[in-house]
Amino acid sequence: MQQRQQLVIANWKMNGNNQLVEAFSTALSNINANCEVVICPPSIYLHSFKQQLTADTKVKLGSQNVSEQVSGAFTGELSVTMLNDLDVNYVIVGHSERRAMYGESSEIVADKAKRAIDASITPVVCIGESLEERESDKTFDVIAEQLDAVFNALSLSEWSNVVLAYEPVWAIGTGKTATPQQAQEVHEFIRRIVSERLDEETSKALSILYGGSVNAANSAELFAQADVDGGLVGGASLKVDDFTQICQSVSAE
Ligand code: PGA
Repeated sequence: MQQRQQLVIANWKMNGNNQLVEAFSTALSNINANCEVVICPPSIYLHSFKQQLTADTKVKLGSQNVSEQVSGAFTGELSVTMLNDLDVNYVIVGHSERRAMYGESSEIVADKAKRAIDASITPVVCIGESLEERESDKTFDVIAEQLDAVFNALSLSEWSNVVLAYEPVWAIGTGKTATPQQAQEVHEFIRRIVSERLDEETSKALSILYGGSVNAANSAELFAQADVDGGLVGGASLKVDDFTQICQSVSAE
């Protein structure tokens, strides 16, 4: 099987403080794991996180959001240029909380992904269905619709700089994790669509993460699924020991 980049990404959401930044940078600087480890603290902590990591660390930083605009009168927003100034390598776009609470459409999410790629920042594009959509058998339709906007916004070659995260909304912050089989089924579907819309090579090289109540007890089995290439972790990414264990549960290929 083709080697794909495995990643474990911490999404702190609007949590954390100086103490947590210090605890994580100290504990993770020299972490030994079979995956890329990415921390997305609230943006205001990105700079101090970076400064507290050791110079030779492999840990990468990510932002939880970015504007689709270049610059200007957009109070409270952050641009890709600003993220470049902080050496940020990843940005989460289209998290369901932003889609639901801040009205981000699939088109806006796709524009953000494009803006990030243009600035050499890897977008982690989140997609996923609500409980109601799952229960009415719309999971695949919703995923296809969310992806459609990304296909429209990006060229084939730009897809080599994309990470996808399948995050069923009903599993986020609920403690109700998708079973490894449920995750694998959707990941396989996503890879198939990418293969059909683009090509097989791109689909095989694409990292697809699972997110939604990943914890130290369930991560190994989820990450062992053929089409699951790591995870996007919320709640459990706020505890140093749990998050370290989750990173280390990625097995060597
Ligand atoms: P959770 O969040 O791990 O707390 O479910 C995941 C996410 O929202 O990315």
